[in-house]
Amino acid sequence: MYGTTTGEIDETQEEQERLLAFEARIARGEKIEPGDWMPAEYRRQLIRMISQHAHSEIVGQLPEGAWITRAPSLRRKMILLAKVQDEAGHGQYLYHAAETLGVRREEMLEALLAGKAKYSNVFNYPTLTWADVGVIGYLVDFAAILNQTMLARCSYGPYARAMVRICAEENFHKKQGQDIVIRLAQGTPCQRAMVQDAINRWWQPTLMMFGPPDHDSPNTPILKRWGIKTKTNDELRQVFLDTIVPELHALGLTIPDPDLRYDEGSGHWLIGPIHWDEFWRVVRGEGPCNKERMAARIQAHEDGRWVRQALAAYAQKQTAA
Ligand code: 3HC
Repeated sequence: MYGTTTGEIDETQEEQERLLAFEARIARGEKIEPGDWMPAEYRRQLIRMISQHAHSEIVGQLPEGAWITRAPSLRRKMILLAKVQDEAGHGQYLYHAAETLGVRREEMLEALLAGKAKYSNVFNYPTLTWADVGVIGYLVDFAAILNQTMLARCSYGPYARAMVRICAEENFHKKQGQDIVIRLAQGTPCQRAMVQDAINRWWQPTLMMFGPPDHDSPNTPILKRWGIKTKTNDELRQVFLDTIVPELHALGLTIPDPDLRYDEGSGHWLIGPIHWDEFWRVVRGEGPCNKERMAARIQAHEDGRWVRQALAAYAQKQTAA
């Protein structure tokens, strides 16, 4: 049983009774709210997940943001601006949700900027062509929708409610990406080649986004037990495959996996090996763009220092008055 911050067994009778009552609430599908009793491990897991989710939203603006000034039309520029702005809002939503668990914004940001907190692997790759913007919207945001639709059923109230608003906007993100991919797939041979190249480069990183395989996912068991996750990493990855493979095939695009095959018995698309050594290399900070992303994030934090100082001075003046 978990009752302490390190996930150790807690022997006190009262703790055991509280934990049983807590788990009965989860089993009844009740939402746990900030003021409710919760095991320290439940709190720790949520702070870990939600803060890293928020970091991913903020860092995730960088790859696509690089194309705002190079969008092929004013309309595409406006759509991309709206999407990137949405992601910033998602980050704020999620930092707020994490703060309801008692962690300060500064702590979360310090962990990220010091390289102690993770953000999604997928944002550590370069966006080489305009097709990347389409493929990120279509594949990466679709993967995020699958994950976040699951989290909208999460047992922690503030996280589940944040997901409802975020998922609505993610659907627009996916649709605009899908529109770009369809246009390019039906375009000139050069445009078709460009979007196929983008699919080839983003396919593996997107599959990795769902997390390591279930047998190598140490957090999943307790997250499932306490209703934070309702599906495992592999289950969501499979839903992604079964949806996106037929759609990309319908566009005449190929999947960069020679072992890909449809299994009549299970009705699932089965894939070859995912490059988990690459995944862990990127998670360790050795991906193609990790250093660039962190440098940009640290610079943005430095550039915003005067705003934080002005707000702190104003708040101090208000309390002194
Ligand atoms: N990138 C980086 N690290 C990852 C990862 C990924 N794609 N997947 C897993 N990891 C890390 C985990 O954080 C964990 O490390 P930690 O214990 O130090 O935090 C370790 O690998 C083992 O993985 P687990 O499977 O045990 O971890 P989880 O059970 O937490 O599952 C997860 C990973 C599915 C990402 C889960 O944390 C989750 O659902 N998080 C919330 C959603 C989220 O963060 N999404 C990120 C993308 S946001 C986005 O796409 C924005 C959109 O607008 C584009």
